[in-house]
Amino acid sequence: MGVGASEDHRHASYQKKQNGGGQPQTRSSKFRTFILIVLTNLFTIYILTGPYSFDLEVPSSRLQSFTNWNSTSSTLAAELHSTKQQLATSHSVITDLLHRLNSTNLLLQSLLIELSTRRSTNSEDDNDVHQSITTARQLIMNLPREVQLAMGPHKLPLGFHPRTGSDEIHPPVGAGCLNYPKELEQFLTYEVGGECPLDDVFAQRMMLRGCEPLPRRRCHPRSPRNYVNPTPFPESLWTTPADTSIVWEPYTCKSYKCLVDRKKFPGFFDCKDCFDLEGREKVRWMVDRGGLDFGMDQVLATRPRGTIRIGMDIGGGSGTFAARMRERNITIITSTMNLDGPFNSFIASRGLISIHFSVSQRLPFFENTMDIVHSMHVLSNWIPDVMLEFTLYDIYRVLRPGGLFWLDHFFCFGSQLNGTYIPMLDRVGFKKLRWHAGKKLDKGADKNEWYFSALLEKPMS
Ligand SMILES: *[C@@H]1O[C@H](CO)[C@@H](O)[C@H](O)[C@H]1NC(C)=O
Ligand SMILES: *[C@@H]1O[C@H](CO)[C@@H](O)[C@H](O)[C@H]1NC(C)=O
Ligand SMILES: *[C@@H]1O[C@H](CO)[C@@H](O)[C@H](O)[C@H]1NC(C)=O
Ligand SMILES: *[C@@H]1O[C@H](CO)[C@@H](O)[C@H](O)[C@H]1NC(C)=O
Repeated sequence: MGVGASEDHRHASYQKKQNGGGQPQTRSSKFRTFILIVLTNLFTIYILTGPYSFDLEVPSSRLQSFTNWNSTSSTLAAELHSTKQQLATSHSVITDLLHRLNSTNLLLQSLLIELSTRRSTNSEDDNDVHQSITTARQLIMNLPREVQLAMGPHKLPLGFHPRTGSDEIHPPVGAGCLNYPKELEQFLTYEVGGECPLDDVFAQRMMLRGCEPLPRRRCHPRSPRNYVNPTPFPESLWTTPADTSIVWEPYTCKSYKCLVDRKKFPGFFDCKDCFDLEGREKVRWMVDRGGLDFGMDQVLATRPRGTIRIGMDIGGGSGTFAARMRERNITIITSTMNLDGPFNSFIASRGLISIHFSVSQRLPFFENTMDIVHSMHVLSNWIPDVMLEFTLYDIYRVLRPGGLFWLDHFFCFGSQLNGTYIPMLDRVGFKKLRWHAGKKLDKGADKNEWYFSALLEKPMS
C-alpha cells in the first residue's frame, strides 16, 4: 500500500534504467543515438531561446508612455490589448511545441528501445561490453578507497573458476549507482568498524533513483537504546511495538502513537492509516464486498485447499496482508520502502518478513516458485508503461503455474483501462479469474479516475 510520495523518484529511476542501463551499443547505433540526443537537445534549446520565448521586460517606449498617462491612456489600452493577444498566440505556439517535444521524446524513447533490441542480436557486442566495464572501473578508481573496496572488482583468491568463468568478482551494486558518484562517496564515508551515519532516508532516496542494490558498508548501524525483547508470536501480529525498539530516523513522526494518529492529521502521508492496528487494518480483506474489495478467503477458495502456501506482497505497507495470511498458515514476504515511517521495522516487529526494495527491482525469487503475489495501491499509472510491462512479466516469471496474481486497487484514468492496461495484462499472458473496475469515489476525485481489482492466474500450461 501507498507509495505516492516516492512516485516521482521511482519514475525517474526507471527512466534512467530504461535509457542508461542495459547493454552497450554498436558504433553505428551509438552514433544514431548520439545524433538523436543532440537533435532533441537542440530542439529544447530552440524552444527556450528561440523567437517564441516570453519577453518579460517592458520596452522603454512603453515605460515612457506611462509618464504621459492621460494623453496616451487609450493608446496604451490598445497596446496592452495587442500584447495580450500576442501572449495568447505565443502561449498556443508553446503548447504546440511542447506537444511536438513530447512526441519527439516518445519517438526517441521508442527508438532507443528498438536499438537496444537490435543490439541484443548483434555479435560485435563483446568489445563494447569490455569497453563499458573499463569505463565503470575507471569511474570507481577515481572515487575514495572505501568506494573502490565496496564496489570492487576483487581478484578471486583461488584464481579462475569455471563456475563464474572469471578470476575476479564485482560485488553486486546497481548499475544506476554509477550515475551518482557524489552520493556514493557520501554513502561510503564513515569510520571503518565504527558507527554508520544515520542516513537511511538519504540511502533510500538513492535506491529510489535507481542505485539499487546499494553497496555494502563496513560500519554498524546505530542500535536502539533500551531495546526490549519482541512480543511473542502470535500476539506480535497485532501489537504495536515499543518506541524504544527502533532508532527513529528524521521522519515527521517520532513515535508509534504519532504514526497511529497521523490519519487524523491534514496533509499527505503514504499509507496514512496503516499503523493503526485497531482501525481499518483490522478489517482489510476480511469481507468480500463484491466490488473492488475482494475477500481473502474467497480468493484462496479459488484454489484447492492448502495449495496456496507461499508468496509475496509487493508494497505491503505495515504488513497486514502477511499477518492475515499467516493466520491461515500461509507465508508471505512483504516488500516495502520506509516512506516517512519505519514500515520495515514495524512489519518485522509483528513477526513477519519484510524486504526493503523498490518496485524497480527484479524480484529476488526463482521462476515458477510462488503460489501467490499480491499488490495493492502500488502498481498504478504512475509507472511508465514499459517499466510496468517488465514488472508484470517478472511477477509472471516467479509465479508457479496456477499461481495467483491479486492486483488490488490499480489506479488509472478511464481511457487507460481499455487502451493500455487490459491489453497489457492480456499480452503478458495472465488469465482473468475475477475482475472489477469502478470509479474512484474519494472526495475530490476526478470523474475519469478509476480503480480496478483483478484476480489473475498464471496458466497451467
Ligand atoms: C489628467 O487628467 C486629469 C483629469 O482628467 C487632469 O486634471 C490632469 O490635468 C491631466 N493631466 C495631464 C498631464 O494631462
Ligand atoms: C505529454 O505526454 C504526457 C503523457 O504521455 C501527457 O500527460 C502530457 O499532457 C503531454 N504534454 C503535452 C504538453 O502534450
Ligand atoms: C495452522 O497450522 C496449525 C498447525 O499445523 C494448525 O493447528 C491450524 O489449525 C492451522 N490453521 C489454519 C487456519 O489452517
Ligand atoms: C472498456 O470497454 C468495455 C467493453 O468494451 C466497456 O464496457 C467499458 O465501458 C470500457 N471502460 C471504460 C472506462 O472506457
